Amino acid sequence: MSSYNLIKENLPKSPKTWLITGVAGFIGSNLLETLLDLDQTVVGIDNFSTGHQSNLDAVQKKSGNNWNNFTFYQTDIRDLEGCQKACKNVDIVLHQAALGSVPRSIEDPIKTNDSNINGFLNMLIAARDSKVKRFVYAASSSTYGDHPGLPKVEDKIGKPLSPYAVTKYVNELYADVFAKTYGLETIGLRYFNVFGPRQDPNGAYAAVIPKWINNLLLGIPCQINGDGETSRDFCYIDNTVQANLLAATSNHPDATNQIYNVAFGDRTTLNELHSSMCAVLAEHDSNIATAKPVYQDFRAGDVRHSLADISKATNLLGYAPSHNAQQGLKETAKWFIKNSLNN
Ligand SMILES: NC(=O)c1ccc[n+]([C@@H]2O[C@H](COP(=O)([O-])OP(=O)(O)OC[C@H]3O[C@@H](n4cnc5c(N)ncnc54)[C@H](O)[C@@H]3O)[C@@H](O)[C@H]2O)c1
Repeated sequence: MSSYNLIKENLPKSPKTWLITGVAGFIGSNLLETLLDLDQTVVGIDNFSTGHQSNLDAVQKKSGNNWNNFTFYQTDIRDLEGCQKACKNVDIVLHQAALGSVPRSIEDPIKTNDSNINGFLNMLIAARDSKVKRFVYAASSSTYGDHPGLPKVEDKIGKPLSPYAVTKYVNELYADVFAKTYGLETIGLRYFNVFGPRQDPNGAYAAVIPKWINNLLLGIPCQINGDGETSRDFCYIDNTVQANLLAATSNHPDATNQIYNVAFGDRTTLNELHSSMCAVLAEHDSNIATAKPVYQDFRAGDVRHSLADISKATNLLGYAPSHNAQQGLKETAKWFIKNSLNN
């Protein structure tokens, strides 16, 4: 049996109390859905800066009576007391709350810094003081910065290319120091372009997959920054949820106080992504088959290529991603079609 299936079998027999920060966001709400499904007790916090009540409503609809195992606080992680209240009696923290997006951080570095560094530090202190057993947090592939090596291996990073990347790297440094000086067990998961249901397609800082699906369904051309040969290791949300649960529960003696790449381990160019997306969505609307993208300038702060070596997570955590980019794209398209038709 795979490590993940084993966890899914065992967790309901010995439920734990989890805190998900950023629970109303894309990744946070998917973590919530899975944990409630596994009969866990979950506390969630969010300040709704980029997350939505509708994400929580969608999970409530799916989780039936297990929704009673969830407690939500509208809390900002920049408020230490709020973090301390949320961490009370919690076994495991899955820290997702942060302001994402490279361009947002270039536009307003102070705001990004406040949530991503000051808020992160508050959460570490609250977790330490509440004697949380493990602190798993969302790190980022942006930490590889200008390092040219491919695939990306955890211990070879370059210089950050954006304020956002700085904040995510500082998170790793702080987590390491808290592990060494206070004995807090930490695990950082360097996510690579996560996508899937409930990812926000709207706004100036939307991620490429939900934005493009939305555009194609509305007949709006997709904009490609650069020549379209920029590549990414797109990671379907189920893989990311799996990595979080494995990191949170691993008993491997070398697994903690580490950083792991979380991706599928394959890369797709933006041109390929656009073509695949058109092919998948053409099953819903045949006009989409011939949609053409519009090319514009490269975007500041963007890494040219991104591809993860996932062997560390595979070896130490038993990580085995269930969906490649194409399989994830099909699931995501299905969800967006259903939800945009319902709106
Ligand atoms: N989606 C990706 O591809 C990706 C890649 C690398 C890293 N990450 C990281 O994963 C985490 C989750 O990202 P996501 O894609 O779900 O984004 P998201 O914007 O959907 O979720 C982030 C959530 O955090 C909340 N939040 C932000 N600042 C907060 C604050 N000060 N106090 C309380 N809540 C706050 C937001 O309201 C939102 O609900 C983030 O830390 C992000 O940096 C995401």
